Amino acid sequence: MKLILLGAPGVGKGTQAQYIVEKYGIPQISTGDMLREAVREGSELGKRVKEVMDSGALVTDEIILDLVKERIQKDDCANGFLFDGFPRTIPQAQALIDQGIDIDCVIEINVPDNEIVARLSGRRVHPDSGRVYHVTNNPPEIEGKDDVTGEDLIQRDDDKEETIAERLSVYREQTEPLVAFYKDLSKKQGSQLSYHTIDGLGDTDDIKTVIFDIVGSLSSTL
Ligand code: AP5
Repeated sequence: MKLILLGAPGVGKGTQAQYIVEKYGIPQISTGDMLREAVREGSELGKRVKEVMDSGALVTDEIILDLVKERIQKDDCANGFLFDGFPRTIPQAQALIDQGIDIDCVIEINVPDNEIVARLSGRRVHPDSGRVYHVTNNPPEIEGKDDVTGEDLIQRDDDKEETIAERLSVYREQTEPLVAFYKDLSKKQGSQLSYHTIDGLGDTDDIKTVIFDIVGSLSSTL
């Protein structure tokens, strides 16, 4: 099962990805998490991408495609995977097609911009695991600490208000065209792809139920 969660920054892709991973046992491939890990490690790649990420712009397609190609070769991807934050440009989506990687399902999550700003400015993350919290919507049991390890939570460098606005505009320009791209692809004769648009406003558990219904109907046919 090969899935894509598509949507603007802060619509809840990472939050819902955690639920899908737990229930369906497929790995989450978050290019954002992979890049942030490289930044934390201080690797050559991390040094190259830090400034771009902090500005809210996109990292080059070449870097992203190299990362993804390597990741999907790993054994845990044998039964499929969940892309979160990838693809983000038409060339990235086209590269998947060119490599013969057939996506089964795209789930587009929609949330209004004012809610996105509120979500991202209150987001806190556990850097090592990628676990996501929100200071009011989804607080940890102990303020500022990860529920599982008790380690400190941090605020992402790109979750400042001015950078959030830039990320939203980058999304509209470079990533939103994927909506039409994948809708068209799903309508092509013989295509295995199904496309779903869901409302990302509301309780995370209710959204999870909607997503599980979609993924459940897929997994019974795959
Ligand atoms: P990336 O890490 O992918 O960030 P993003 O797409 O901007 O997405 P986010 O992680 O910000 O949001 P999300 O949708 O996962 O929301 P979340 O679940 O955390 O990318 C970062 C950067 O890396 C990019 O800007 C770019 O530079 C680079 N990059 C990455 N991939 C790339 C690619 N393919 N190509 C080029 N560059 C790339 O939720 C947000 C908050 O809301 C949380 O606090 C959460 O608790 C809360 N929340 C979630 N659901 C709800 C709900 N239903 N109600 C209320 N609150 C909620």
